[in-house]
Amino acid sequence: MALDIEPGIAAEGNPALIKIIIKEMDGGTIPFERFMELALYHPEHGYYRKSGRIGRQGDFLTSPTIHPMFGWAIASWCEWVWQQLDEPDTFTIFEPGAGEGTLGTAILDWAEARKSNFSQSLRYIALEPNTEGTDSRIQWLQGNPSPVQNGIVLANELFDALPTRLFEATERGPAEIHVRWDGNNFVEVRGNITVLQNVPTKGRFEINGKAWPILETMCGLIKQGAILLADYGYEEEKLWAPWRLQGTLSCFYHHTAHENPYRHVGEQDITAHVNLSELATGLQNFGYEQLGPTPQHEFLTKLGIGDLVESARSDLGSYFERRQAFQTLTDAGGLGKIQILAGLRGIKGTVPGFESNEPT
Ligand SMILES: C[S@@+](CC[C@H](N)C(=O)[O-])C[C@H]1O[C@@H](n2cnc3c(N)ncnc32)[C@H](O)[C@@H]1O
Repeated sequence: MALDIEPGIAAEGNPALIKIIIKEMDGGTIPFERFMELALYHPEHGYYRKSGRIGRQGDFLTSPTIHPMFGWAIASWCEWVWQQLDEPDTFTIFEPGAGEGTLGTAILDWAEARKSNFSQSLRYIALEPNTEGTDSRIQWLQGNPSPVQNGIVLANELFDALPTRLFEATERGPAEIHVRWDGNNFVEVRGNITVLQNVPTKGRFEINGKAWPILETMCGLIKQGAILLADYGYEEEKLWAPWRLQGTLSCFYHHTAHENPYRHVGEQDITAHVNLSELATGLQNFGYEQLGPTPQHEFLTKLGIGDLVESARSDLGSYFERRQAFQTLTDAGGLGKIQILAGLRGIKGTVPGFESNEPT
């Protein structure tokens, strides 16, 4: 089969990846979930296989890339968990979806600066199948490690980057969206009607089939300690509200947001909001006391991120840098609306950042 690609489309995306996707379609269709998986995670040409995607020079910003202050605040939360566990000699932080390790570096720097036993006890393990960072204090793993006695699992914007199934409600039930190549473009077609309970009866919506098993694996990594998740998302009632007819799928290319996953294939991020109700239920189901969701702007403010700004007053350059980062990280219409969920096991006490939330 000839794989001539119309130059406009090829020039916008990665031509090698586009050819691979067309080849896998073999003249037919693939589910949208598979299209998204190839676009983001193809082992050679997927979007996340190349470094530099996140940050000012890339396509979008995440909290750890704004300023190390984000990681310092999270580090103080981790130290609190370590203290509640009676300061064990070995304490492991796992970070699935660590990217290039920016969060880990900030956490380790903060701990080292404290010169306390917390820093001595820390082992930091990035569980990241796509990239490898340069901080030699971080151990990079691709598989699943054995569970540890004491630790934390941190994940910042992992779940909203997972390939998701896409559906469109019809009068006969939800049809799964598939993708085919029409000779010039990737186009959508409706697949078979699927039997699904309690899903929207109008418009488009996503269901993430990978979130639950990944959460289960995460929850099995520690015998006691905590899970801390940060993602764009809504509880199910809001995620699937009757007025949300277009779902939540969005794309980022050079800091411009749009809704077409078939442009810039392999060169743009594709993301969907997570179902926070599912993650919250999962945390409880897998044996954790669950807290949140609470918005990041509230969580960071309660952790005292404002004090990190004030403590730099003697150096004006650093002070204004931190002040600007504070505004970005706590902007309720931007990164501040990211939702934080926690799971706790073997820990008592009022949990920093969640003070007004009662455990369920
Ligand atoms: C949106 S990026 C976030 C990176 C980093 N946490 C940050 O906040 O800057 C999502 C990351 O999750 C990683 N990822 C995707 N699927 C994964 C999986 N199944 N296990 C671990 N990491 C995964 C991707 O390679 C990517 O680095």
